[in-house]
Amino acid sequence: MSDQYRPLKDAFGRFATGIGIAACKKRDGGFSVITINSFTSVSLSPPLVLWCIDKSASVYPDFMAADSYAISILNAKQRAMSDRFARYDPIQLTGDEIDIWETGSPLLKDRIAGFDCKIAMRHAAGDHDILIGEVIRFDSANGAPLVYFASNYHSGVED
Ligand SMILES: Cc1cc2nc3c(=O)[nH]c(=O)nc-3n(C[C@H](O)[C@H](O)[C@H](O)COP(=O)(O)O)c2cc1C
Repeated sequence: MSDQYRPLKDAFGRFATGIGIAACKKRDGGFSVITINSFTSVSLSPPLVLWCIDKSASVYPDFMAADSYAISILNAKQRAMSDRFARYDPIQLTGDEIDIWETGSPLLKDRIAGFDCKIAMRHAAGDHDILIGEVIRFDSANGAPLVYFASNYHSGVED
């Protein structure tokens, strides 16, 4: 079946990005987790980030009900994590795979950066919503990033 948005996706995809994993606590226990490349830093003071969630994503209602989320930026060897959380009903995160900070949202171990955020603003934007988060706690580490460009993964180069 042809994808009417393929030409636009091809153009958008020429902007190389890293890969993030966004995660929130579910109201009834457990976590909702999704692979994203729409992460952007926004403001230093106050510290703000954003990412965009597809309104048709199965995890959308969980992020609408949440008051916080965590973003983990993947290293070049975490391609499997990206694949795992880019599909419906992924295998749940286990305790040994994550860190939990102030908001209770899970961060993946071995990330090259992590951001624990309170949701500060939500904006409707076409078929996505923009979720702006105030960064409560963060970290960063050395390591090559997982890079996404033109619908393909690449290994970034470490500093
Ligand atoms: C590289 C990559 C980047 C993605 N970025 C986003 C994103 O920024 N926002 C989003 O809502 N979905 C994004 N997705 C899609 C979701 O990961 C995917 O739709 C979701 O995990 C599948 O959920 P569902 O089929 O249960 O709705 C991305 C997928 C991939 C492979």
